[in-house]
Amino acid sequence: MKKFSKQKTTIIMVLLLILVILSLGLYWFINKNQAQEKADDKRNEQVSTKKVKSVNRSHILIVYFSRSGQNYPGVNLTRGNTARIADEIKKVTGAQIFEIKPRVAYPKSYDQTVSQAEREQKNNAGPKIKGKLPKVSKYDTIFLGYPIWWDDIPMIVRTFMDQVDLNNKTIIPFSTNASSGWGKSLNTIHSVFPKAKLKKGFEIKGENAASAKAKVDSWLHDLGY
Ligand SMILES: Cc1cc2nc3c(=O)[nH]c(=O)nc-3n(C[C@H](O)[C@H](O)[C@H](O)COP(=O)(O)O)c2cc1C
Repeated sequence: MKKFSKQKTTIIMVLLLILVILSLGLYWFINKNQAQEKADDKRNEQVSTKKVKSVNRSHILIVYFSRSGQNYPGVNLTRGNTARIADEIKKVTGAQIFEIKPRVAYPKSYDQTVSQAEREQKNNAGPKIKGKLPKVSKYDTIFLGYPIWWDDIPMIVRTFMDQVDLNNKTIIPFSTNASSGWGKSLNTIHSVFPKAKLKKGFEIKGENAASAKAKVDSWLHDLGY
């Protein structure tokens, strides 16, 4: 009787051990599958985000004007302030970019450029643009960048605006200035393209443009880029 009971206890112990091993195996199997599913979901999410970004990117165009050289008496820029913001937008969005360049370059002297810009504005006559303009119909979002000149958009940017139709598109302005903020420029954009959707833009003092990366990135992030 004692012997039988000892045998019985051993069998029960062995069965319990097998049960424990099976449970542990089952637990490991379920966990492994769940981890795999999570990894698959994450990968799919990344792939689809990449897809969305690349699809959107092909619909975005960055257009900007910027003047390097003598930015102010005694201040010489190797790259214009607005160009630096455009560079960062391109880096983040990967969008196509078009720089508006005058057919006849602006004077090297800051003072002469200021006088010329004043004349252009008074005469409502924008200078001609060098090269072919991009086909804006291919894009639905246009980042439009410019320095503030005489409290408004430089007339050469008006030349661009007069030659394209940005109505029914999304325009995201960005601008640099000495102290005027946006000046009249947002009203100008709205009056030229009343049917465009104007999204929150970015403006900064020119002297801070070279160190504006974090601010530009955060603005773009808020816009969904
Ligand atoms: C012709 C001219 C007119 C300007 N007019 C203004 C102005 O009305 N208000 C202002 O805040 N800054 C004015 N500025 C300063 C520029 O907006 C500023 O330096 C800007 O950062 C230049 O950008 P860029 O280097 O991309 O050309 C003017 C500069 C120039 C050359």
